[in-house]
Amino acid sequence: MNDTTAEQPAPRKLIIAIDGPAGAGKSTIASRLARKLGYVNLESGAMYRALALKAIERDVSFDDEASLVKLAEDSRIQLEPTVGGNRTLLDGRDVSARIRERDVTEAASRVSVHPAVRAWMVVHQRELGGGGGIVMEGRDIGTKVFPDADLKIFLDADPVVREQRRLQQQQAKGEVEASVAAELRERDRRDRTRSVSPLVAAPDAVVIDSTAMSEDDVLARVEDLAQKKLR
Ligand code: DC
Repeated sequence: MNDTTAEQPAPRKLIIAIDGPAGAGKSTIASRLARKLGYVNLESGAMYRALALKAIERDVSFDDEASLVKLAEDSRIQLEPTVGGNRTLLDGRDVSARIRERDVTEAASRVSVHPAVRAWMVVHQRELGGGGGIVMEGRDIGTKVFPDADLKIFLDADPVVREQRRLQQQQAKGEVEASVAAELRERDRRDRTRSVSPLVAAPDAVVIDSTAMSEDDVLARVEDLAQKKLR
């Protein structure tokens, strides 16, 4: 019998890393790309945000590294991909909306500077994505979490454009804050200058500057790169 289907190798399941600063369009591109490829989209930032929320609720200082790690070890942080987007569960509770609020955003950037917190996160992020078939976005996915990722994208954009995009997102949600630009700049500064795993493009990342590109153009570029890896 000539069963050719048995000889077909299973399609490779890539690990795709998308890193970059806030407002560059990572989340949108990562989720659209994942949908196109039938992959799972994992937002690593949501894990830092969930821990930050727990620190707020338990009144743990954002500067107390040891207590933050203990808090993480005592927590169940789950990323649940759903058709309508990702859900984040903290100890079984759906915190997806709460972790996008301003106080948690600021706190996430502060808890993420600690090396021991990052080490805990990296272990869990590798467990989540190690099997492949994922698009994971964050700040250190291509440099630290999956340094051997099949495809690494560093998505950047001019700071003024990123601030405008954030403002538009907030306006759409009806919650405009005059300080959005200043907060984004400060978060950027912290993410890029922390001593451990600062936000930088991996040497083998494809850098895409989305300043003058539409979302569809960026997606087409990234999808093309992914398809080449799959061939
Ligand atoms: O992507 P985000 O805005 O949800 O991330 C929230 C914060 O978490 C961000 O300010 C920096 C931190 N973060 C990180 O340090 N490393 C990651 N891989 C993802 C997020």
